Amino acid sequence: MYPLIRNRRLRASESIRRLVRETVVTPDDFLVPLFVVEGKGIKEEIPAMPNYHRLSLDELEKEVKALWQMGLCAVLLFVKVPDNLKDNKGSEAINEHGLMQRAIKAVKNACPDMLVMTDVALDPYSSYGHDGIVIDGHVLNDETSELLAEMSVSHAQAGADFVAPSDMMDGRILTIREALEDEGFTNTGIMSYSAKYASAFYGPFRDALDSAPVDEKNVPKDKKTYQMDPANRFEAIRETQMDIDEGADIVMVKPGICYLDIVREIRNEVEVPVAVYQVSGEYAMLKAAAEKGWLDHDAVMIEQLMAIKRAGATIIATYFAKEAVQLL
Ligand code: PBG
Repeated sequence: MYPLIRNRRLRASESIRRLVRETVVTPDDFLVPLFVVEGKGIKEEIPAMPNYHRLSLDELEKEVKALWQMGLCAVLLFVKVPDNLKDNKGSEAINEHGLMQRAIKAVKNACPDMLVMTDVALDPYSSYGHDGIVIDGHVLNDETSELLAEMSVSHAQAGADFVAPSDMMDGRILTIREALEDEGFTNTGIMSYSAKYASAFYGPFRDALDSAPVDEKNVPKDKKTYQMDPANRFEAIRETQMDIDEGADIVMVKPGICYLDIVREIRNEVEVPVAVYQVSGEYAMLKAAAEKGWLDHDAVMIEQLMAIKRAGATIIATYFAKEAVQLL
């Protein structure tokens, strides 16, 4: 008891703080999201994501080599699909010569050991910007899952190590797992976006891929009929448990910082690795505040990554990966 116990003894110098530190963030924690576009020599900055770019395949190869050199070992691929290739069924998603399929090969070509995860959802391919097939304003569940399974097989054929379904359809993990097994891809993993909330933090990402949801009159829509209500906690556990039962190897909570209570809850509940996605809006907020001189960018960045890991993340998908590694 005080004054015999003085907690400040363990904070008295950097050396003792290092010695007793419970959480250490390392390059091994990071999964790097990358945005891919058609073309050559393209490296275009994304609106509201300063210092983050859409890359053509040649630039993607350069970037992946640089990431590997820095000690980063895993990427998560997203593609921006030209408007004329979008439809309601995401036909382009299963084109074996599609941009995603070529991007997977480009990464493996540049850097064979880089772990490649791919986004599986229809939104970048959909004329409605929805993650599934839309009929009469409804996003169809089972029909969408079948398509996502085909898409997953196509990514596996191109060489993806993991597919990452980000769509929140019911039962899609089982449908995807069975399709992968049937096609012999028994070693292709599934990282499921299991507790993905209908968050307002995805705005800059939807700009990056030109994938904001709309109806047939081009009126903005939301994704609340499939992504989770931010008010709910028990539902996150149920979603996650079901995805594990259906065959998910890794589960995910998304977004990050506002949902760390969910991360801890799930970490305490399940045994599989838990990924956390620190999303585009989180990145944008810090960049904007730092640009104004209102926050110390690097200090806040590291504090946030530390907080995500402390909450229980095994993997952190973050646009800050490169900048963080440079500091660590
Ligand atoms: C879409 C998808 C989204 C993100 C990852 N996959 C956006 C959405 O659900 O509308 C968001 C990532 C981010 O904001 O950084 N399937």
